[in-house]
Formats: sequence, structure tokens, C-alpha cells
Amino acid sequence: MSNLLSLTRAARLVGVSRVALQKKIQCGKMISHDGMVSVESLLACYPEAQLEDTVEFQRISMIKEKAFGKRVFERALPDAEVLAARVTELSKALAASQLQIQKLNVFLNKLWQRLDESASNAESRETMENLKLWIKHEATSAMEPGFSNPLSIRDSMLSVMTAQVTVLPSGHDFLLEGQDTLLEAAMRAGIPLNYGCSGGNCGLCKARVVSGLVKKTRHHDFVISEADKSQGFVLLCSNTAVSDVVIEAVVAGSVQDIPFQQITATVKSIDALAQDMLLLHVQTPRSQRLRFLAGQSVTLRVGESFVADLPIASCPCDDRNVLFHVRRQHGNLFSDYVFDRLKVHESVELEGPQGEFILYEKSPRALYFFAFDGGFAPIKSLIEHALSLNAEHIHLHWIGSTQENIYMPNVVRAWADALDNFHYLEHIAGFDLRAATGNREAHLQQQLGKIVDSDDGLIEGDIYLAGPESALLIAEQFFLGLGLPKTRVSVNVVK
Ligand code: FES
Repeated sequence: MSNLLSLTRAARLVGVSRVALQKKIQCGKMISHDGMVSVESLLACYPEAQLEDTVEFQRISMIKEKAFGKRVFERALPDAEVLAARVTELSKALAASQLQIQKLNVFLNKLWQRLDESASNAESRETMENLKLWIKHEATSAMEPGFSNPLSIRDSMLSVMTAQVTVLPSGHDFLLEGQDTLLEAAMRAGIPLNYGCSGGNCGLCKARVVSGLVKKTRHHDFVISEADKSQGFVLLCSNTAVSDVVIEAVVAGSVQDIPFQQITATVKSIDALAQDMLLLHVQTPRSQRLRFLAGQSVTLRVGESFVADLPIASCPCDDRNVLFHVRRQHGNLFSDYVFDRLKVHESVELEGPQGEFILYEKSPRALYFFAFDGGFAPIKSLIEHALSLNAEHIHLHWIGSTQENIYMPNVVRAWADALDNFHYLEHIAGFDLRAATGNREAHLQQQLGKIVDSDDGLIEGDIYLAGPESALLIAEQFFLGLGLPKTRVSVNVVK
């Protein structure tokens, strides 16, 4: 095990977020060497990581997997050849260490002889004897069995099961696990690399391997020229990492980097979330994924061209699955069609994505999400994305017109129970938030005032608001009125 660990790897080993480590470095509690930390300094800050088994670490990993759904997180062993290659690498490192120890032993023997020879009189003989006793004591205690650090053992295990991928020039890094391709692992980590089909056809995920070993695990029809191959170009959707790798790839930094797409998808399921709210699950074809940033919307076309702009209620890490929350609006052709006539396996058209309600990922501030009724859909997408980025503090306030409008309470309560970085409170307005005028406006302001008063950190956080327009107007004015700059209050109107 190398003495220095990347922040991603160190965070994984002790079960905290990268942001938590960055804060320790910033306040001088942890020493970093070019963005890496030593095992010793990690242990000094997290002595509990000495335990063989960090229960919390396992618990959080497990819940995160469940939160994103089993279909996304198929945690399997790496491909047999990849596993063999990683074990070989580890064996080489072990052999090198053993060789070093042998050389050290030879050196100690020579030193012994030299010390004996250099003692010319009684006084220097005594000095040499004391020196030899000291060396013997130090060498014996260093070699004592059982001194190995549990973190070292865990890191060796981690390096067999995972590989670290660093992306240039953005500097993002993430861990690749199981049989994931480089593209899948990046998406799980919330890093929007450039891609199109994710099936080896379009070539949009072509990227250069700067260092490390990759292995093709999926067939691709797209042909990479010999010139590109010789420069290390591969398809991220068809290759996995055998060792830690550095790649040169394009990462979408803004909504402008995501192309407009038109995709025919299939309805996978339609489930009632509440009396007037449906969960619509559509799946894109194997040869075409929808690229979007968490929090964005698409235009959905069903039946004889019944159309609506809907926020996506899942995160881009969810592979081919795109989820929507559709509210019943009597007399609205789209909503009537979805509630009364749309069938599983039916084709629907997706166009987009659109919208700028996305996470400001570079912000070091805590995240405060306010979902008003069905505004939970884009908020859910953002929260899932924030979780995959290991955001340190995520707060959700779900304000429902009635209890019925808080239509997925079990999901968010489960997150709150399981994740230390996720905090949830629900509030009932007691009136229709789509008609928040007059007295109701004052009432909503009072409710928001109480929320702010109960949390000192809120005013320092980034605020994300989503829901019906009338409620959002009040909420936005309320937060701006507290002196928050407009750049820290993001708003998304959900009809
Ligand atoms: S995303 Fe199309 S070839 Fe990889």
C-alpha cells in the first residue's frame, strides 16, 4: 500500500465524504501532499477507522445502493480477467516489498559486522554494544507481527475490488467497482462525461487513456482508427479499468454542453403515488440513453401527440430509466391520457433536456431543498445526484398543501434514517399551494420564517425551490428578502 491516498480513496476507507476531508485539510487538521493524504494523518483524524469493520461505512454504502434501486447498483465481482490482473499487480507489490525486506536484512548484517570491526578500544566497544542493542530493539518492534494497520488491509482489498479513475483536465476522480464500464462508473459518481448511445455505436464517449491499464469488456461496432488507438483512445462505454487510470475526457460543465435529443422510449411501469399523482417510469432503448443534468426537464409526448414539459424525477446515474411524477389535472389532455389510457410497453417521445435548475456543484455550502407539493420531482433528481457526489449536508423541507401532497414520505424518511448527511422535515400548509394568495401568502411566509429560525445554518446555504408558481414567488421573495443573493436561490416552477 502506498503511504499516500487520494481523497476519494481515503474518504471511502473511513466512510466520510471528500468534502469532510477537504475541510480537515483546510483547517490544518489533516496534512495533504499535492492533494493526497497519508494513512497516518488519516488515522490521526479518524482513529475509529482502526476498527476492522466500520459499521457506519457499510451501513451508508448499503443504504445508498438501495436508495438508487437494485437495477442500478448490481454490485458484482470484477470480471475474472480484471480480478486476475489486479491480484497480479498486488502480488508484484508484495514481491517487491519482500525483496526490500531481504535487502534490509542483508544491510543489517553488514552493519553489524561493521560495528564490531570499528570498535578499537573498550570505550568504543561499549558504545557499539549500546548502539547494537538499540538497533535490535527497534528492528524487532518494527517487525512484530500484528502491527499491520487495518486501513492498509482494507485498502489492499479495495484496490482489488475497485480502481480509481482520474479525469483530466477537469480533475474529477471516482472509483470503478464490479463489472462497471468506465462510463457507468462515472455516471454513478455523478460525473457527466460525454456520451451518446452507451452501447458502442456512436463514438461520442471516445477518450484517451493517459496512464494505467484498461480492458475491453463489451463489444463495440464503432471503429476506432489505428492512429487513435496508438494514441490510447478507447470507448468509455466498452472498457473497464484494470488498474488505477488517468483518462482525458470531456465533462459537461453546464446545460449548454448537453445536446438536444429526441428519443423514442417505452413505458416500463405506471404506479399510483397518491390519489392524484402517478409515477411514470419510461426506459430508453439500449442503443440510446437520455443525457441530462440532474434537475432538468424534458418534453414528453404521449398518445396522439399529447404533450407536457415534465421535470425528470430520477438522476442521470439511473442508466436507461427515466422517472416522472405526473399530477392529475382534470380536463388536461396530457394528464387525462396518462391517467386513463396510457399502457405499459407503449411508446412515448422524449425531447430535450431543458432547464437550468441544476446543482451548483462547486459550492462548498450546505444544500437546502424546498419541495412544494409536486416540486419534489426535480428536487428528488437533485438529491440523488448530490448523494452520488457525497455532498456533506443535504436538507429537505417538503411543504405539502395537505398530507396527501407529500406523496413519497417513506422514501425520504428512509434516507433520513439511514444517511447522516441527509436531514428531512415535512410541513403542511393547510391550503392549496397553487393558490397561495392573500392571507395564505402571509401564512406561508410565517412557515418559512419558522424553518429559518430553527436552523442557524440555513441562511448560509444554497437554496433550491421547486413547486407551483404562486408558492415559489412567495418563497423566492422571502429568501431574497433575507438578503440572500439571487445566485444562491434557484427556482423551478412545476405545474
Ligand atoms: S456512448 Fe456511444 S459509443 Fe460509447
